[in-house]
Amino acid sequence: MNPFIYDIPTRVYFGENQLHHLGKEVAAYGKRVLLTYGGGSIKKIGLYDAIRAELDKAGMEVYELAGIAPNPRIDSVRAGANLCKEKQIDVILAVGGGSTLDAAKFMAAGAYVDHDPWEFFSSNAPIEKALPLITVLTLSATGSEMDCGGVISNLETQDKLGRLAPPLLPKVSFLDPTVTYSVSPYQTACGAADILSHILEVYFTTEKDLYMLDCFMEGMMKTVIRYTPIAMKEPTNYEARANLMWTSSWAINGFVNGGKEHDWSCHPMEHELSAIYDITHGLGLAIITPRWLEYCLDETTVDKYVQFGVNVFGIDASLPPMTIAREAIQRLADFLFKTLQLDDTFTKVGIKAEDIPHMARKACGGGTLQGLKPLAQADIEAIFKMCI
Ligand code: NZQ
Ligand code: ZN
Repeated sequence: MNPFIYDIPTRVYFGENQLHHLGKEVAAYGKRVLLTYGGGSIKKIGLYDAIRAELDKAGMEVYELAGIAPNPRIDSVRAGANLCKEKQIDVILAVGGGSTLDAAKFMAAGAYVDHDPWEFFSSNAPIEKALPLITVLTLSATGSEMDCGGVISNLETQDKLGRLAPPLLPKVSFLDPTVTYSVSPYQTACGAADILSHILEVYFTTEKDLYMLDCFMEGMMKTVIRYTPIAMKEPTNYEARANLMWTSSWAINGFVNGGKEHDWSCHPMEHELSAIYDITHGLGLAIITPRWLEYCLDETTVDKYVQFGVNVFGIDASLPPMTIAREAIQRLADFLFKTLQLDDTFTKVGIKAEDIPHMARKACGGGTLQGLKPLAQADIEAIFKMCI
């Protein structure tokens, strides 16, 4: 086990009727706020009006940037960063899902630099400072509300690239499960697949780790498996929405990582699908993940699959390890494709076989993903072919 630093300073207001704290939290950073949001869902559910009322009450000068798209575009980041400079914005308030929150993070960093914000991704330009960011989360999935990362798409170059930097961490996040009541069953399912993937990317490792963290991750996976079908059938079930929301944050806020150094595998692969086909992140992960697990299963990795199968799906521990492992993969696939009703192949979502070599090369950056098993381009191509 590697030594690690635990430092998650985002203040979280969790639960219903917490928005009356918003004004004071935003005003603590200054007078001029940039309110950014997506395609309009926050207006339909009345959240926009509630937020404007709180900002007005706090005497804030409000500027807006609406229309942040899923798989957020660098163009929105550029527009936001320019607006921040032009209007001398003090604080950004992002209201929405991961796409809006991610875009806001790079607007916040872009406000402090003279170069094109795409250089944060294309040439790893330093992110030393960012405007303070406050978020109101409306979709349980990415964990962007409590992490310092974000992923941005560039349609011109067909790239979707991620970046982590501590200054991007939200200062405050509002997590009210009732604002997720309007999330469709499909987006709820995609969000669940994303949460599960964040856990699986960390859980499936051959590095030695803390038993306590494994138990925590198994509990979170069981939570997603238990509550997602409920939230899909009963969108206003508070217990289900609340459990999914808090799990989305803890799956990726750094806590479960416990100093592990291995690369993630499914995420870099999925980002190439979204980059070209603009598909929903969680859907792409759902298709890839069971195939990745199948590809990486062998005598050196089987123990972790057994642990997963027994502790998460309750498979009989007395069965032979390989039987348990294969059954665990099948149960996961059944959950994603039967219970959540997500499409299970590239073909169904329109991804063409001819793009596989190109996507595989970009996914590993011409090198190797050092995850559960090292994956070079040929391995990723093989996994992608299993998805066809
Ligand atoms: O744009 P609006 O109108 O708000 O509609 C959105 C959008 O169409 C809708 N939605 C959100 N909240 C809603 C709602 N509809 C009804 N009621 C609500 N309360 O849902 C659609 C999808 O929204 P989006 O923000 O794109 O979804 P998600 O939260 O899944 O974010 C996905 C993005 O986050 C990135 C993904 O790659 C993808 O670009 N990720 C960010 C991560 C991070 N920051 O750490 C990690 C993840 O692995 C992921 O890569
Ligand atoms: Zn993800």
